[in-house]
Amino acid sequence: MKNIYSNIYKSNFINLKKAKKNIENNNIIGLPTETVYGLAGNAYSDKSIKKIFSLKKRPAINPLIVHFKNLNSLCKDVVCTPLFIKLYKAFCPGPITFILKKKPESKISKIVSAGKKTLAVRIPKHVIAKKLLKILKVPLAAPSANISSKLSSTCAADVVDEFGNKIKFILDGGRSKIGLESTILDLTNKPTILRQGAISSEEIYKIIRKKITVNKKLKSIKSPGQLKLHYYPGIPVYMNKMYPKKNEAFITFGNKFKNAKNHFNLSKKNNLREAANNLYKTMRKIKKKKYKSIIVCKIPNKGIGRAINDRLKKASYKYANN
Ligand code: TXA
Ligand code: MG
Repeated sequence: MKNIYSNIYKSNFINLKKAKKNIENNNIIGLPTETVYGLAGNAYSDKSIKKIFSLKKRPAINPLIVHFKNLNSLCKDVVCTPLFIKLYKAFCPGPITFILKKKPESKISKIVSAGKKTLAVRIPKHVIAKKLLKILKVPLAAPSANISSKLSSTCAADVVDEFGNKIKFILDGGRSKIGLESTILDLTNKPTILRQGAISSEEIYKIIRKKITVNKKLKSIKSPGQLKLHYYPGIPVYMNKMYPKKNEAFITFGNKFKNAKNHFNLSKKNNLREAANNLYKTMRKIKKKKYKSIIVCKIPNKGIGRAINDRLKKASYKYANN
């Protein structure tokens, strides 16, 4: 029942039970979600959470998202305000994470939230993630399945690319449908988007009819994980450019670009959702082809295009500032 990689497992009934056993034994597994793959572990267990931080080389100050099966289980750990319930009804399960106040009686490992009194919670939509959560008695802490500051994984093979055999069990759920991490909405104060994603501020506004702040500047970002270079493919990235140099890959968007060898089109149909889905996949491909750097044409800054530009901006941060 194994893939060409010995640690990638087909998502059938038997392997879901194996995944469950792994979680119960405080092992960390690769888990498909509709946004990106996660590195999942028992959210109640300090031992599991320590393993996640160590595998990812993640600074201990950067808290994790906890994934729940439904509203009932989530309400045991966080304060579910009326505003949150409204948004939950509109968008869950789905690609959105909420920052809420943690209940004092919460059993979630303290290490998850890095000493904060808040908790990031999400109910994923991917059928495999849902099935696994349903048979588990515990919620799953799951950051994106990548080494800290690197590109997220959008298929099981990417997880192997990042961690090799250090992750012994990866459930194969195909390519993540969205391909970019969830929108993060902080509801502990005035509604604030901490990370852009597939669900836009306009869609959120339609539900809550309240002003939504979008944290755009790197220095004012509240999520510690977003303070520095992030989503980094391992080679320099430069945004809003048109003429690639020798050994440079050119990420394009739309139908006005030619099919040159070093051109990588995110969506010939001008479709931003398709472009979002292709972004990390394309950057990984370029890296493997041994290009020395990447330039990216201007990408429309609307809808999920804002999330694409946000990721590109952070991937190019170092170079934009030098
Ligand atoms: O789509 C996703 O959200 C994926 C999948 C696997 O669910 N997960 C993901 O997790 O992207 P991660 O750990 O790579 O990103 C979570 C972000 C980090 O920037 C972290 O700082 C922020 O969420 N975060 C977590 N808890 C927080 C909290 N209590 N307050 C503010 N930010 C928080
Ligand atoms: Mg991440």
